[in-house]
Amino acid sequence: MKIPAPRGRVSATLIDLLQNRGGSGHANAYGSLNLLVDEALAATPDLLRDEDLQLALFCLYELHYSGLDGVEDAAEWDPELIRVRARLEAAFENLLRRTVPVPELPAPDSEAVAETLFRLAADDDGASVSRYVAGKASVEQLREFLILRSVYQLKEADPHSWAIPRLPVGRAKAALIEIQADEYGGGRVERMHSKLFGTTMEGLGLDSGYGYYIDQVPALTLASSNAMSLFGLNRRLRGAIAGHLAAFEMTSSIPNSFYARGFRRHGFTDDVTYYFDEHVEADAVHEQIAARDLAGGLAEAEPDLLADVIFGAATVLAIDALLGEEQLRAWQAGESALLAPLGNDGGTAEAALAATAAAGGVTA
Ligand SMILES: [Fe+2]
Ligand SMILES: [Fe+2]
Repeated sequence: MKIPAPRGRVSATLIDLLQNRGGSGHANAYGSLNLLVDEALAATPDLLRDEDLQLALFCLYELHYSGLDGVEDAAEWDPELIRVRARLEAAFENLLRRTVPVPELPAPDSEAVAETLFRLAADDDGASVSRYVAGKASVEQLREFLILRSVYQLKEADPHSWAIPRLPVGRAKAALIEIQADEYGGGRVERMHSKLFGTTMEGLGLDSGYGYYIDQVPALTLASSNAMSLFGLNRRLRGAIAGHLAAFEMTSSIPNSFYARGFRRHGFTDDVTYYFDEHVEADAVHEQIAARDLAGGLAEAEPDLLADVIFGAATVLAIDALLGEEQLRAWQAGESALLAPLGNDGGTAEAALAATAAAGGVTA
């Protein structure tokens, strides 16, 4: 994806370093980056909403996905960058472990785990964004909704795929493969969920290129994506990524029916709503497989991972609740949920970026 615009001293230094790796003086640049990270971590009042630090972590993770334009692929395993990533990850994980409310642990058998996860999902009232989309959202708000979701949805399923080689041969791994095969379209490009989401974006006049709107997306949305990458890219957190996927699937089917309704209300047809319609059906099945066979099966096979399975699921719900609150607060106040509104031209990124810069939303 394109290199994002920096949002503060840490992301500016990191991006500069990524673009000039191997250049003279880059050893010093690592030193100053580490110092800046430590200072910023010590000073931030809220790491979840810290634009600079969440963007820096997002860029470091992106090296493991499709990469950043103009940055060498070898940067992925640069030990100095891994060290910076580990510092940010430690602080982020620590924050999640301290703040995400986790229910009492069930017995490590698949039925008890599934029951706990279903109860957790049922207690979640994160459906409010989907109700707003169904009944009230304007076309402009639908565009914003898609842009916010595009950070994950245009690479849908990828963060959970890191878990595949990390699970032992058995029920949990088979379940994960069954779900992921559907997410990737069962071998058919036109049915890949990331591809379907792109079609929905294009139906609203948006660009479906991965990362096209990255400069519009607030820290909390980046944090939601970063949490998946944190869990997916660390083998020790394989329980958390399994629980994360389970909670994702369990809170998908009904909200997607509301999203589809919201888009139809404005006259958008089946080709635009197909992404949502597909999830109403698919995730009603996926949630059963994910809760019982993936999360439950993993807790049975590796009881030591039980706490992290539940922690991963609870993290999805906690971050989603914050995201929903932030989005609804903006929309109900008649404001944009993006860092700056897209404008009336259907939202070119150039227009959006100019607006962001003019509003002082980007500081270098
Ligand atoms: Fe999906
Ligand atoms: Fe799914």
